[in-house]
Amino acid sequence: MDNRPIGVFDSGVGGLTVVKALRQTLPGEDIIYLGDTARVPYGTKARSTVTRFSIECVQFLLKFNIKQAVVACNTASSCAVETLKKRFDVPVMGVIEPGARDAVKISSSKNKKIAVIATRSTVKSNAYQKHIHKLDKSVMVLQQPCPLFVPFVEENMIKGAIIESVVKEYLKAIKSKNVDSIILGCTHYPLLKSIIAKYLKGVHIIDSSKSISIEIKRTLEKKQMLSNKKQGILKCFVTDDANNFKTMALMFLDKDISIKRVQI
Ligand code: DGL
Repeated sequence: MDNRPIGVFDSGVGGLTVVKALRQTLPGEDIIYLGDTARVPYGTKARSTVTRFSIECVQFLLKFNIKQAVVACNTASSCAVETLKKRFDVPVMGVIEPGARDAVKISSSKNKKIAVIATRSTVKSNAYQKHIHKLDKSVMVLQQPCPLFVPFVEENMIKGAIIESVVKEYLKAIKSKNVDSIILGCTHYPLLKSIIAKYLKGVHIIDSSKSISIEIKRTLEKKQMLSNKKQGILKCFVTDDANNFKTMALMFLDKDISIKRVQI
């Protein structure tokens, strides 16, 4: 048993999709969340920049004596996870490996075609493709950056004709290729899940936030490091204005939360 918190970071508010999934899967765990809102977006930045920011985020989380660091941001997971694992003693897990593993499981009995949608930096890193190919070289991977999805979600434009046409524009090549599954390779994309499902009928949707929370549960169980609390506490920190974050956080978590602004 280990009642220390799990530390989660993201470039901003999107990582709350991972917090939501973690709270459903592991309700007894305390969670410390850091949204690096002063430097968001990470998805357009260079690998070295994202790595530097990610190191600072983990250093901040370590002040809370965390038992596990979770990289909720797909871009940070793609660019920095290996560096973070080497640099810190605390176990670090990113969203790429669990998401890739779930997608390969689904596709191994089907066409063996997996689509990945993500930020430009995640696609450029090829991280999902590399992990998929580590598990099964014969899988075909189609990658598509969808940079407009993040601002649409943050503007709460997740329904209606405009977002439907953006989804169609980005996903039409994927639709024509008859893929088995699609990985939502960005923190914000789970909020567009129903629109994506409607357009790509019959395609299995992998939500990396769900994949990682199940993987964290498995890992903590194995190490006998689960909390024995009934209900864990969530503490949120941001590096920019807390009010902006609060409004958006409601959309992601359906719940009012307390947020503190910090400098890292
Ligand atoms: N959190 C980022 C990701 O999952 C999306 C937002 C950003 O570009 O920082 O890739």
